[in-house]
Amino acid sequence: MSEIKLIREDGRRLDGRLPEELRPIKIEVGVLKRADGSCYFELGRNKVVAAVYGPRELHPRHAQDARRAAVRFRYNMAPFSVEERRRPGPDRRSVEISKVSREALEPVIIAEYYPRAAIDIFVEILESDAGTRTAGINAASVALADAGIPMKGLVSAVAVGKVDGQIVLDLMSEEDQYGEMDMPVAMVTRTNTITLLQMDGRVTMEEFDRALDLAIAGCRRIYELQRKALIEKYSESRAEEGGV
Ligand code: CDP
Repeated sequence: MSEIKLIREDGRRLDGRLPEELRPIKIEVGVLKRADGSCYFELGRNKVVAAVYGPRELHPRHAQDARRAAVRFRYNMAPFSVEERRRPGPDRRSVEISKVSREALEPVIIAEYYPRAAIDIFVEILESDAGTRTAGINAASVALADAGIPMKGLVSAVAVGKVDGQIVLDLMSEEDQYGEMDMPVAMVTRTNTITLLQMDGRVTMEEFDRALDLAIAGCRRIYELQRKALIEKYSESRAEEGGV
């Protein structure tokens, strides 16, 4: 158990949330003019932008795949996004997050439609408060749809964890730092396929099952918000074109 109390007497967390509650979410689609698709995603105090470019010709040419498009993902934390200024540029953590985030999204992208091409996804963390990899995956998934990339479904992601002996949804920074377990999960809600599951800490099998159920419920709620944001954007642009 941690020294710092993370669950209050009334059963609520330090920010007033119940164990199964998400932080407030805000999603904006198509925020960047020069990207083929983009999304701004807020999850509590996390502020994240995703930009998608492509399908476009892949350089260098020897890296092209004649059967499918290459999906590339770069996660980057701005130096000012954390409490203590971060050295700019890639580090071990961002290389790892870029890899697992790409793997979380690749199963839904129909890359075979674009042989020799590249689909580039950039995620920039502007402000962080734990859960940035999941916020980045959510943003990237919406940005891919905004770019018109053919997909089998949207990917939604959220972290779950254990704090003060309780399984809770969507850890904020203090819970991530002082809690007993942190488990980011990404899934294709439509097909119920988990595409990312990492775990830092230890739990019993029963606790793991509860945590996974909670993460799945959280992903479903996020999926609804992603869907709504995309529908709103596209009904707006059709109205502007004089369609509807
Ligand atoms: O962000 P996420 O939970 O996906 O990944 P993490 O590696 O578990 O990091 C948790 C949090 O620690 C981040 O969201 C940041 O708020 C913070 N962090 C930091 O302050 N400085 C770093 N160099 C890396 C992370």
